[in-house]
Amino acid sequence: MNTHCKRNPRPSGEGFFKTSIWMAFVIGGLFLIVGYWSAMGGEEGMGERLIGSAARSEAMPVANDLYTKECGACHLAYPPGLLPARSWKKLMGGLSDHFGDNAELAPEDQRAVTDFLVKNAADRSGQKRSAKVVRSLKDGEAPLRITEVPYIVRKHHEIPSRLIQGNPQVKSLSRCNACHTRAEAGSFSEHDVSIPGYGAWDD
Ligand code: HEC
Ligand code: HEC
Repeated sequence: MNTHCKRNPRPSGEGFFKTSIWMAFVIGGLFLIVGYWSAMGGEEGMGERLIGSAARSEAMPVANDLYTKECGACHLAYPPGLLPARSWKKLMGGLSDHFGDNAELAPEDQRAVTDFLVKNAADRSGQKRSAKVVRSLKDGEAPLRITEVPYIVRKHHEIPSRLIQGNPQVKSLSRCNACHTRAEAGSFSEHDVSIPGYGAWDD
């Protein structure tokens, strides 16, 4: 069976060597193409999605157990990077009347949560979306709602109210995770949006 190989070791060895060089060229070329593609695709381009880093670059995950537990009980634990520090301070200073609910915390928990929010606030975080939040606000403006931030308002103003307030599975724009399927992981990419009863949003 293998007599051919045993008798002619050199030519087959050379053949293998040549094949390796060609393979190296082909694989190297592929790397260049994918790299170029991702560079051209920009922040949410095809290339980055292929490589799988888009989610990482745009996601704003919440990594604080106390915050997730205390502030994720009634709604999504909103990413701190969606409001400036001055908004969080104001909101945390009025928890006994929190949009009509009592969301008061023990003093030490309130301090710890406030610290976490302020440290990771839109004007401190350096995240891409945070920069957009900050740029859309006037100096000193301190909205208590993410849904009142002009950048967020702008991103949703084309969605008809029958799909939000008039949609029994959504009811309010404040319920981010009703439509943003990866909101818990901090991702608000438009590629992960599915409006209940409607589906993906193409604009
Ligand atoms: C007892 C329930 C409850 C708890 C606990 C709670 N919230 Fe809320 N939160 C609400 C309600 C109700 C609203 C108003 C939702 C609406 O208008 O649809 C709200 C709204 C918000 C909004 C504005 C969302 C928007 O419309 O953009 C923010 C920000 C927020 N909460 C932050 C927090 C933080 C931070 C904590 C933890 C300290 C917290 N919440 C704990 C009930 C709660
Ligand atoms: C009714 C469903 C719905 C709800 C609820 C909702 N969104 Fe959206 N959101 C969308 C859709 C659809 C788009 C894409 C709009 C477009 O591409 O024109 C979007 C876009 C965005 C974008 C921009 C994404 C991008 O890559 O440009 C951000 C950021 C965002 N939403 C954040 C939020 C936050 C934060 C909340 C909650 C406070 C929220 N959304 C609630 C449907 C929703």
